[in-house]
Amino acid sequence: MTATPGQLDEPAAGADSEAAVVVRTAKPEEIPAVGRLTTEVYRAAELGDEEYLEHVGRADDRALRACLLVAQGEDFGSLLGTITLAVAGGDYADIAQPGEAELRMLAVAPAAAGRGIGRCLVEACHERAAAAGAWQVVCSVEEQNARALRFYARLGYLRSPDRDWWPIATVKLLAFTRELDGACAPNETGAEARM
Ligand SMILES: CC(C)(COP(=O)(O)OP(=O)(O)OC[C@H]1O[C@@H](n2cnc3c(N)ncnc32)[C@H](O)[C@@H]1OP(=O)(O)O)[C@@H](O)C(=O)NCCC(=O)NCCS
Repeated sequence: MTATPGQLDEPAAGADSEAAVVVRTAKPEEIPAVGRLTTEVYRAAELGDEEYLEHVGRADDRALRACLLVAQGEDFGSLLGTITLAVAGGDYADIAQPGEAELRMLAVAPAAAGRGIGRCLVEACHERAAAAGAWQVVCSVEEQNARALRFYARLGYLRSPDRDWWPIATVKLLAFTRELDGACAPNETGAEARM
């Protein structure tokens, strides 16, 4: 079963063999569950120490300071995944430069893995980033996170080694960039993304 991306806030009508998924801004009452899901998924993937896991659990803070999105299944009861979108200069932007948006804390529920939910979440971010005036999206991936490295490569993300960085001495993050379809580079627009 593969997910089909919906409109940003409306369910998509999938083909018979596909599950519809809605990607939208997290509702206030969902935020604790989003935090728990993110922590659970990051712990299972061995992404970060306890301090970082506590940080990724703070979905309330992400909802305040960035754009916290969720993917919901067609039964409208299940939280399938989450992602946070930040723009350059925002509290959750680590490497985004002016005109870029940044993906943070992508997590897909174990029960929904391998169904394209991650793609739906990232594509929703692309739409929102473009609507906000961004021309490019960036993200950072731990070099040991082989599944995420394959995932972003499949979505057209390109390595940007000059932007790799070390949040702490023992963790290297690999930088990826993806130009948004139809976007103009900043020297052509001079625009900065705002959300
Ligand atoms: C990376 C991630 C977001 C991908 O989400 P997804 O919606 O499962 O993505 P896909 O549908 O493209 O499938 C990803 C992989 O899961 C595999 N898969 C298929 N069924 C699966 C299942 N039942 N259980 C687990 N994995 C499954 C797919 O074959 C694919 O493997 P591949 O990379 O070897 O090709 C998700 O694995 C995740 O949340 N990982 C942990 C958090 C993380 O790494 N976040 C990104 C930090 S930068």
